[in-house]
Amino acid sequence: MRLENITLVRHPLIDHSLTVIRRKDTGTEEFRRHAGIVSKILLVEVMKSFGTANMRIETPLAAMTGKKLKDEVVVVPVLRAGLAMLFAIQDFLPAVSVGFVGLERDEKTAQAREYYRKLPKLYATHRVLVIDPMLATGGSFDDTVRLLKDKGAKRVTIVCIVSAPEGIKRVQKHHPEVKIFTAAIDDGLNDRKFIVPGLGDFGDRYFGT
Ligand code: PRP
Ligand code: URA
Repeated sequence: MRLENITLVRHPLIDHSLTVIRRKDTGTEEFRRHAGIVSKILLVEVMKSFGTANMRIETPLAAMTGKKLKDEVVVVPVLRAGLAMLFAIQDFLPAVSVGFVGLERDEKTAQAREYYRKLPKLYATHRVLVIDPMLATGGSFDDTVRLLKDKGAKRVTIVCIVSAPEGIKRVQKHHPEVKIFTAAIDDGLNDRKFIVPGLGDFGDRYFGT
């Protein structure tokens, strides 16, 4: 695993919330709340490198130069668990364009199968954020990034909550230019391709399935 293009986002609030969502006895309500906190801190970190443009405005007292976000952002949650991060991100970017890719891992083979796709038109200038809380084998991110690049995306960033070294290596091998932001890099995968120590099945825990 190479460390270039990977940002391990560290923050005491992440440490706290990540511990809550990792605990097996955490219920749906707490899980949702703390998954949302981690997602928001990750986004703040991702967006540190985004450009702004000057903008003249008037406050009730005077004219001044403010700033507005310059980059056009497209967020692509990988269904279904990626929705958890989308809800958090929309608080910061209420008008953001959203594309959807639906993938589900086969429980036996851990291979991701696509069952849904709806994307806006993608341009090379777009900052495309692919969001999915779990980067395990890397199959889901690998397939999603490939299809986004096929549709014209050039500036792709992956944002996940928990990642495994195996998945990071796979993404780095196939998409070396893609930046990865993660709140944790865990030990590895078990024989069912679950992240260890991880947090179990994110989608099931978040949606109370
Ligand atoms: C989970 C998770 C990722 C994928 C990660 O989704 O949300 O999408 O597994 O595994 P990978 O890196 O090995 O591809 P899952 O297929 O369980 O579907 P869900 O989001 O509907 O729960
Ligand atoms: N998907 C999950 O939700 N959890 C894992 O540990 C691996 C894939």
